[in-house]
Amino acid sequence: MDFREEKEEMSGVKVPTNLLCEYTSNPLGIDVTSSRLSWVLNHSERGQLQSAYQVLIAQRQANLDTEDGDKWDSGKVASEKSINVPYEGGPLESGKTYYWKVRVWDKDGKVSPWSKVATFEMGLLNPDDWRGGWIEGKGYGESTCSDPVHGITKIPYGYLLRKEFSINKGMARARVYVSGLGYYELRINGDKVGDSVLDPGWTDYKKRVLYSTYDVTKHLRKGKNAIGIMLGNGRYIKAYGYGSPKVILQLNVEFTDGTCQDIITDETWKTGQSPILSNDIYNGETYDARLERRGWGVAGYDDSDWDEVRIGDEPGGKLVSQANLPPIKATKIIQPLKIANPQPDVYIYDFGQNFTGWVRLRVSGPRGTMVNLKYAELLHENGMINPVPNRGAKATDTYILKGEGQEVYEPRFTYHGFRYVEATGFPGTPTLETIEGRVVHSAVEPVGGFISSNSLINSIHKNVLWGQLSNLMSVPTDCPQRDERMGWMGDAQLSAEEAIYNFDMAGFYTKWVEDISDSQAEDGSVPDVVPPYWSKYPADPAWGTAWVVIPWYLYQYYGDKRVLEQNYSGMKKWVDFLTGQTRDHILSYGEIGDWCPPGHIKPVDTPGEVTSTWYYYHDTLILSKIAGILEKSADAKKYSQLSSKIKEAFNKKFFKDDRYATDNQTCNILPLFLGMVPEDKKQAVLKNLIDDIVVLHNNHLNTGIVGTRYILNVLTKYGQANLAYKLVTQTTYPGWGYMIREGATTLWERWEYLAGGGMNSHNHIMFGSVDAWLYKVLAGINIDPASPGFGKIIIKPFIVGDLKYVNASVKTIRGMVSSSWTRQDKSLVLDVTFPVNSQAKVHIPKMGLKKVIVKERGKTVWENGSYLQGIAGITGGSEDEDYVTFNVGSGLYSFEVSGLDKHCSPGSYK
Ligand code: BGC
Repeated sequence: MDFREEKEEMSGVKVPTNLLCEYTSNPLGIDVTSSRLSWVLNHSERGQLQSAYQVLIAQRQANLDTEDGDKWDSGKVASEKSINVPYEGGPLESGKTYYWKVRVWDKDGKVSPWSKVATFEMGLLNPDDWRGGWIEGKGYGESTCSDPVHGITKIPYGYLLRKEFSINKGMARARVYVSGLGYYELRINGDKVGDSVLDPGWTDYKKRVLYSTYDVTKHLRKGKNAIGIMLGNGRYIKAYGYGSPKVILQLNVEFTDGTCQDIITDETWKTGQSPILSNDIYNGETYDARLERRGWGVAGYDDSDWDEVRIGDEPGGKLVSQANLPPIKATKIIQPLKIANPQPDVYIYDFGQNFTGWVRLRVSGPRGTMVNLKYAELLHENGMINPVPNRGAKATDTYILKGEGQEVYEPRFTYHGFRYVEATGFPGTPTLETIEGRVVHSAVEPVGGFISSNSLINSIHKNVLWGQLSNLMSVPTDCPQRDERMGWMGDAQLSAEEAIYNFDMAGFYTKWVEDISDSQAEDGSVPDVVPPYWSKYPADPAWGTAWVVIPWYLYQYYGDKRVLEQNYSGMKKWVDFLTGQTRDHILSYGEIGDWCPPGHIKPVDTPGEVTSTWYYYHDTLILSKIAGILEKSADAKKYSQLSSKIKEAFNKKFFKDDRYATDNQTCNILPLFLGMVPEDKKQAVLKNLIDDIVVLHNNHLNTGIVGTRYILNVLTKYGQANLAYKLVTQTTYPGWGYMIREGATTLWERWEYLAGGGMNSHNHIMFGSVDAWLYKVLAGINIDPASPGFGKIIIKPFIVGDLKYVNASVKTIRGMVSSSWTRQDKSLVLDVTFPVNSQAKVHIPKMGLKKVIVKERGKTVWENGSYLQGIAGITGGSEDEDYVTFNVGSGLYSFEVSGLDKHCSPGSYK
């Protein structure tokens, strides 16, 4: 540390950290040319803000040592912007690495030390940068093999591809750009490149194909090298209108003498027979280890009997980098808890947890022995697995032994949703060590934390986490086990806020928004499932709303204005499409609506017109706000006026005698949620809702997925947080607590415990919206829409039911936000944290007391109804019936509220 740095450290403004480019730390393969940079500020003082920043970007790291931003020197920019700051230098070049650092000035004009150097590297920016072609093997059926179970199987000949090449000079660096459809595994000199699986992410391959970028410098060596690729079907299948598996790859090697060598996919590659006899997302994988070609992935292998590849047709979509979509990975290994042997030769494993992925098998035995692993969510009474909820998905992996000592196998091109595994055909007696579970999903970073004094709530939270991760498979899926696993937009939009509180979803949703945009038809409609592997147009309005809601959340939670700019015309086309379907502002079409209410799949007593028209209003209203944010004032006015008309029509058509439509819970919840109920009727509608919950349904909800998404928020908003809490902690049917009581380890598709086929997944996320309520209401962590991306934060916890404490935190794009409270008899301690460059309103519950005193770390900040100045970081306060509210800056605070009456809070008031 030099003297200057020391002085800066002492001034309290510290080194900025968490440098991100396009939401990713040191990414490779960025193909957004106005890349956006974000950083987190650090400061030892409370109440600190950024007043200015300077970014330096250089083409060589050494240049930054002398503060030479040869690519871009932003200069000192007076701005509070610390997230998504766009690059504004000259054109960024394909394949180039850029080095950057940042420093900030605090609100007092003190400058921080420079951050550590971060990098971002561009992908292949121009179509011409791709010099190779899409190559493929010869397809199925070139040779056959007989196996005892499947009889004669057509071997997918040509799903292995290889290429040898020499490197004769000293290497500076090497990059691979690769995509293989439907799935691929890349090896260099026998070693798998990277740790992701099931790549690339799903897209409509006719519109967009994702490629990955790898630094493979360490994989290569001077002399002979080999590249090997295994291909799988994934979703690139004829049933969805695609072709046969194919791959495109480009290896760029840069030498220390400044020259380059490219290895590309062309007709010089060879193709051979894969030991993977069959692979299918739903049905599983069959692997015959006898067909392994030892050494095929390394140089020197004799491939003279392999075939030439052929140059395949292009998939049609443009190649786009996968850089900011978190890849799918096996993030965890879990061991089975139990093994049972209900029938001869049938072994049933129980992992004690429903999850997504597969198992790794360890086995030794005679050559040709076939071990079957069948996956299921449920068990029959007799201890056998119940695979019926998998519907048409066979969900079976088969391994045929080569008979060479200990063999280890795990599938590559399939995945399953399961808790139980049935092993048959195992040579000898398997043990608990024979298999281990690989937990597989898009590896989004966990950012949330929630724990409370109520163990049922904690279990609900845990089930939501498992359910959410199980349903992130490069698109948000409905379920992971049956023959479906589609990007149903309804399920995704209803659970998105919960996902955002728990995981860093910025990159994941950015990619999915592109999928939605790709799927939009000429007439403005979007499909129910995205990517549209099933062509279901037009989406039910409760599903299609994802097209507006997901970009809106990206803006609100990550401050991402660009996603609004880029997709504005698409969202507008969607709203205009809906308008085209209306009559007198009522939208009647829609097949799904308030899906899966208790006892039913279809929303039996919530009319489709109610949900459809409500979402039409909802989307129009949000669109008008987006238009305002983007300064499109004519549109802002137009859609805001349109939304008023829809509201009027909605009330005219559905509101009668203080009740909406059929007067069920959902019909009353929806207009309450969006403030559509005439002011003088609010209490009456609310009363109907409460009566329905309390009297008619004995403190149970009676909502499908749409009503469930809003019910807790509505009750909280209208002073019924305790009732909302009752619903959340209800342990009798229907409710989340009931699921847990019945042994659920993820959330179900239905409120009922069902063990049959049809619509009966035990791992759906669409009721997962409850978890956002835990963060927003119990912990009270909320964004303030006035300053998106947690620029302004609202903390407003509700102290309900028997809760004694709640601890929650969210690692936001701006830094850590936390809220933890503990209550005693008549006092409460609330600890909160806010990142530098944010401001908060902290609402401190008065615990039902009229007169309270509030202290912060022992110093009085509120007494006799007024705010006492003098505490760093707190700039003002106010009071209403339920809360004392402070304006607070960044930092850590510990508030304690207690009654002025000694008897109320012994010891807390002297
Ligand atoms: C899916 C749902 C989806 C629904 C709508 C189901 O098959 O699993 O979650 O939203 O269909 O039709």
